Amino acid sequence: MTSFIIILIAVLAIALVAFVVWFASTVASGKCPLCMMKQPFLSKLTVDLKEQENFENDTEKSPLMGWSSWNTFRNHINEELIYDTAVALKETGLADAGYRYVNLDDCWQSSLRDENGDLQGDLESFPSGIPALVEKINELDLKVGLYSSNGTLTCEDLPASLNNEVNDANTLARWGVEYFKYDFCHHEYISGDCPAIEYVDINADNEHAKIRLTPDNAMYTGKARMLTIKELPTQKAFGFINHGAGTVSFDVDIDNEGEYNMTIHFFKVDAKNKPYCQVIVNGRMYEVFFPASKPFTPDGRQQLKVKLDSGRNTITFLNPIVTKADSSFYQYIRMANALKDATKNYAIENETEEKPITFSICEWGLARPWTWGAKVGNMWRTTHDITPQWASIRVIYERNVRLYNYAYPGHYNDPDMLEVGNGNLTEEENKSHFTLWCMMAAPLVLGNDIRELADKNNEKAQATLNILTNKSLILIDQDPLSKQAKPIKHTLSGIDILARPLNNGDVALCLFNKSSHQKSFAFNINTLCDDEYLNFEKADEYQIHDLWSDERFNASQVNGYIESHGVKVYRISK
Ligand code: GLA
Repeated sequence: MTSFIIILIAVLAIALVAFVVWFASTVASGKCPLCMMKQPFLSKLTVDLKEQENFENDTEKSPLMGWSSWNTFRNHINEELIYDTAVALKETGLADAGYRYVNLDDCWQSSLRDENGDLQGDLESFPSGIPALVEKINELDLKVGLYSSNGTLTCEDLPASLNNEVNDANTLARWGVEYFKYDFCHHEYISGDCPAIEYVDINADNEHAKIRLTPDNAMYTGKARMLTIKELPTQKAFGFINHGAGTVSFDVDIDNEGEYNMTIHFFKVDAKNKPYCQVIVNGRMYEVFFPASKPFTPDGRQQLKVKLDSGRNTITFLNPIVTKADSSFYQYIRMANALKDATKNYAIENETEEKPITFSICEWGLARPWTWGAKVGNMWRTTHDITPQWASIRVIYERNVRLYNYAYPGHYNDPDMLEVGNGNLTEEENKSHFTLWCMMAAPLVLGNDIRELADKNNEKAQATLNILTNKSLILIDQDPLSKQAKPIKHTLSGIDILARPLNNGDVALCLFNKSSHQKSFAFNINTLCDDEYLNFEKADEYQIHDLWSDERFNASQVNGYIESHGVKVYRISK
């Protein structure tokens, strides 16, 4: 017993010494240790979104409609297949129904970037090159989408866009691409660490140290402060800006606006990931990644180019990364800014109309992107990948349906591409899958072999085509109010009731039988009238349109039977 107590005390003493050493060395390298300790306990975004404007980019405001190569073709795509698909979208009437984007998912790229470091199409399967394909598809009055990842490689291990964001965005703009899906594979989290900074020089080209920002002329917020560094005790630095600890700002007066060189003199640290800071110049964000090692000399330099205005400029140094969600937010916003700049600059330089790019965030719902997606892009995946199985559709639906508060014009939850007509889904399940996606104001991105749908003698294909071109349901999906359906509280067991308000004052109502038996139902429409979200006034009777049978009738309630896994869906007017 005594020896157990002695061992316990020894272990605790060693842990305490290790903690004190870690704490002291963290402070000595200019970092706030308490702020670092917050990280493992938080998984949500801590970035202050009030400061961030919404991502607005003049793309269409209703959910995107088109086709993607991924669900059916995976890595077996080529220029002929893509072009034939575009032609089939026209022939089948799908393009007329609204499906106008032809999206190449992963595997369009060559594993080799070209001699300028730009992405290029696979040299074997896209021999004419992506720009030629975009041109041909545009001639059909259709638009083209492309895919990359914010990691070092895509999910299929092809070149991705980390550290190439500006370059790749310029390539997309030059090619006239109008949709961009940005995945999360081979992602590298941004470090919450920032080294202590000794001073910062700002020079116009060919001029010597015009302005020097030093710790003693800085303004500090939070825990940020002036400090001394162990290795160079005679020199001052500014620090404690890691993990959202605080900010260090300077007011700088400049005579001439223009691009200036900024040199950050910092103290090196040994780190697992590259230390990082943001430099906000008059509201514009620049990002700096520092080396992650501490070789011969204790201090180092990091340079960037910044735009300054004539007159007063405010320059702020910070590292706002507290959680992994914060890191994802900044990885995506980096590309969002690059895309907006790229399309704008391309239009100015070539004196053409800007072709904005719909930006699609695909990080599988990990960092709760519905809470920040509208600041960064037009749509955000809320779940892992869909498969053509009922279980997959159910799981995705259950998560996405709860997020109804986050959708509005130009900004949508994305429960992933459609699997209607794929795998072993029954006719009833295909109709339900399509209906639920329309009720949830989801982007409608087909995952079929469209060439098959053009075959008039293929009965299964024609049944699929009928579902996908249901005009009344497409109108619900594309409704300009863009409000996602809300689950309504009720007492019908095994049945979900969803309702969404529509722009002309109508309501779309869906009853979804999740059980494995046929169910009878009776639902009083007046139930919908006390709901602020639906804003629907009571009446003695309503005009009701059944959107699958196309029947129209007047009544104050709907009733009947719903097949297992089936739906009833109505448009209700006063
Ligand atoms: C991820 C995405 C999918 C698809 C593949 C491509 O899994 O979630 O939608 O884009 O990558 O590799």
